[in-house]
Amino acid sequence: MKQLTLTAVQAKNTSPNLVVFIESEGIDSLSDCLTPEELFFFRQAYQREVNSFFFPRATGAIWVKVLKGGKETAIAREDARLAGAEVVKEVLKYKVDSIALRTYGADHLLLSFAEGMALASFQFLKYLTKAEKKRHALQTIEIEGVHTGAVSELDALIEAVFHARRLLNEPFSYLSSPQLAQEAVELGQQYGFSVEIMGKEKIEALKMGGLLAVNRASQTPPQFVVMEWLPIDPKNDQPIVLVGKGVVYDTGGYSIKSSDGMEYMKSDMGGAAAVLGTFIAAARNKLPVHLVGLIPVTDNLVSASGIVPGDIITMASGATVEVLNTDAEGRLILADALHYAKRYKPALVIDYATLTGAAVRALGNQAICYMGTAPDTVKRALEQSGFSTYERLVEFPLWREYGEEIKSQHADLKNIGGPTAGAITAGKFLEYFTEGYPWLHLDIAGPVFSKVANGYKTKEGTGAGVRLTYDFLKYYFT
Ligand code: BES
Ligand code: ZN
Ligand code: ZN
Repeated sequence: MKQLTLTAVQAKNTSPNLVVFIESEGIDSLSDCLTPEELFFFRQAYQREVNSFFFPRATGAIWVKVLKGGKETAIAREDARLAGAEVVKEVLKYKVDSIALRTYGADHLLLSFAEGMALASFQFLKYLTKAEKKRHALQTIEIEGVHTGAVSELDALIEAVFHARRLLNEPFSYLSSPQLAQEAVELGQQYGFSVEIMGKEKIEALKMGGLLAVNRASQTPPQFVVMEWLPIDPKNDQPIVLVGKGVVYDTGGYSIKSSDGMEYMKSDMGGAAAVLGTFIAAARNKLPVHLVGLIPVTDNLVSASGIVPGDIITMASGATVEVLNTDAEGRLILADALHYAKRYKPALVIDYATLTGAAVRALGNQAICYMGTAPDTVKRALEQSGFSTYERLVEFPLWREYGEEIKSQHADLKNIGGPTAGAITAGKFLEYFTEGYPWLHLDIAGPVFSKVANGYKTKEGTGAGVRLTYDFLKYYFT
């Protein structure tokens, strides 16, 4: 069920609760909604640099938020999102179901403010059994004076991010490999993109040795999800292929992880969540871009049947890989998917993966570590979308010297490099399977998960990649 709906309203005061968002220039217009006494109080406090206000009324309340304004656009938009998040946390305390949102003059930032409000109001309450905890979700934000189309586009994007967050937060006890595939099928039916699931036999027939090797420890079969969004009049002749790492739980296998923080590895399908979220947003908004989505799905467990360090496997492409660390499993399953992507003769392939701790160490959770062979124009456009959605990216090099580190004595490749530059050697490994098409690799291990709530990012899954990719596809390919 949908948690939150954003709607466009023309008439004022549709909801008894109102949030007013303004920049300093809008202050004089507050007489439109505040009483003279409230306005007097406001002015006194504003002079003392207070910028958040709460005025209770008999039937509801007014919250007023003032931003300074006059900044560079991407940062101003981010400040508006953060301000929206701050206000909605106050609103939620009053267990309000519905709120109207209005501005006097800050129209250019109103949707960003709404976006921050919406994103910060995400809740994952499925496993709470106490009814009173379940009740206080905000259900509607009525945005005044904004074009219906723009509001519905944002509503779709928020819904897409919420699905991605929900999937990230779901524990492995629910989100097994077949369940993730099933979620894709249901989302496809609900939002209107096609989904085909390949089970173990099909994966065997395709000789996806990477996916099968990682899955060998499991009692649960792997899945390979193929999705397609084919709009009536696509702007691209050849599809854009989005590939997402779908490891529903990563113990590391025999190269087992330490138990410290292993619980976060329920979110090792963050790439899959980013791709699914993008498909939801694209289909709901009828984005005129032909998309194919590929999600290799498995868990990475420990058992007597699992692969062990030193094993040599043959990938779908025919390449052989010496597996020296079973915890470097993401690249094994992605390699098979990247090979599979060749059949579409894609205009561009982008993969999304919670691939390396090295990416987290390099950039923390503030940026996506990315690299690839796509032209500079594509990279700059993606970076631009990164700034405007504040899902920022930093490019890492794929210099051939880094490739030396994944050469194996016994096989074509080994699945780990040396102790340094781990995000890049992982990228070099993937690059090996991307011959014939322009490609980008996004290591989202840092930004996809937040251990604490922060701004409009709620605790745990953030849904990183969805807003970025939607924005990129919208502006670059249309
Ligand atoms: N899923 C992990 C990467 C990860 C680490 C994601 C921390 C999110 C937070 C991946 O499968 C992994 O274990 N990578 C190893 C690779 C290494 C063995 C070469 C890593 O980064 O330690
Ligand atoms: Zn791993
Ligand atoms: Zn992993």
